[in-house]
Amino acid sequence: MNLRFALKKLYVFYCYLYSQFFSIFNFIIFKDKKIFIEKKTYLKFYKKNDIKKLIKDLKLEKKEEKYQTISIIEKDSLIKLCNFIFTSNFKNFLLRETGYRYSIDYLFIYKNKYLTKKLSKKSVYANKPHYDKPFSRNMLKLIIPIGLSTKENGALMILNNKSNLTKKDFKERYIPFLSPEEGTYIYGFNPRETSHFAQPPEEKLSGMNIMFQLNPANKWLINKKIIERQFKIEPNFPELRNFFYTNTHLKLSNANIKNV
Ligand SMILES: [Fe+2]
Repeated sequence: MNLRFALKKLYVFYCYLYSQFFSIFNFIIFKDKKIFIEKKTYLKFYKKNDIKKLIKDLKLEKKEEKYQTISIIEKDSLIKLCNFIFTSNFKNFLLRETGYRYSIDYLFIYKNKYLTKKLSKKSVYANKPHYDKPFSRNMLKLIIPIGLSTKENGALMILNNKSNLTKKDFKERYIPFLSPEEGTYIYGFNPRETSHFAQPPEEKLSGMNIMFQLNPANKWLINKKIIERQFKIEPNFPELRNFFYTNTHLKLSNANIKNV
C-alpha cells in the first residue's frame, strides 16, 4: 500500500466522520422538531415567473474556462437573484420539506461545454457519477436549470433511488433536472446521499445551471463571502468554516428576505 493510497483512504474516513458528526449536530441544533419529513430523492418547486427574463437583466460577467463558461454575478444582481428565488413561499416550502432554515454559502452559475468521446470518459467537470464527500447529510444543493429542455443540453443527472430498474439499466436510473416550458423549476437534493453527474451537452448545444449550496442555520442567512467564492472551487467542510467565521454572515433583511 503506497502512501498516496493510504492518505486517500484516511481522507475518505475523515469525510465520513465529519459527515456523521455534523448530520447529528445539525439535527440537534437546527432541525425544527415539529416538522416530520418524508425522505425524498429530490425536491421540485415550481415558480410561475420565468427566471430567463431576470437573467437577461442581471449584470453577469463571463469567464471562459476550457470546459465551462462561468458567469460571475455582482452584489446588486445577487440580491435581485436571491429575492427572486428565496421568497417566503419558497423558504416555507423548504422548511416544510426538510425541517431546516439555511445559510446560503455558495453560488455557481455555469454552462458546461461539449466533451469529445475520449474526454467524456475522464472526470472533467463532475461528469462521472459521484457523491460529494465533505458535507453533512443535511446540506441541500439547489439547481435551477435555464434553457435546458433536454438532457442533451447539459443537464445535471441524479440517481432515482426509488427506481426499481436493475443494475443493467444503470444509466436509465438517472433523471435529468430540466427547465419547464414556462416558468422556473428549482430542484433540491442532497449530493452526499444521492449519486449525480453533469451530462455533457451535445456539440453546439448548451444550457445554464444556477447552483446554490445551502447548509442548516438557525435562521436564513447569506454568506458574506459568496461573491468572492464564485472565483474559487466549491467550499467543503462548510460547518467548520461557518463555525470559525460566524460573523461573516450577511443578514438578508436588506434583500427583503424575511425569516420564516
Ligand atoms: Fe457533485
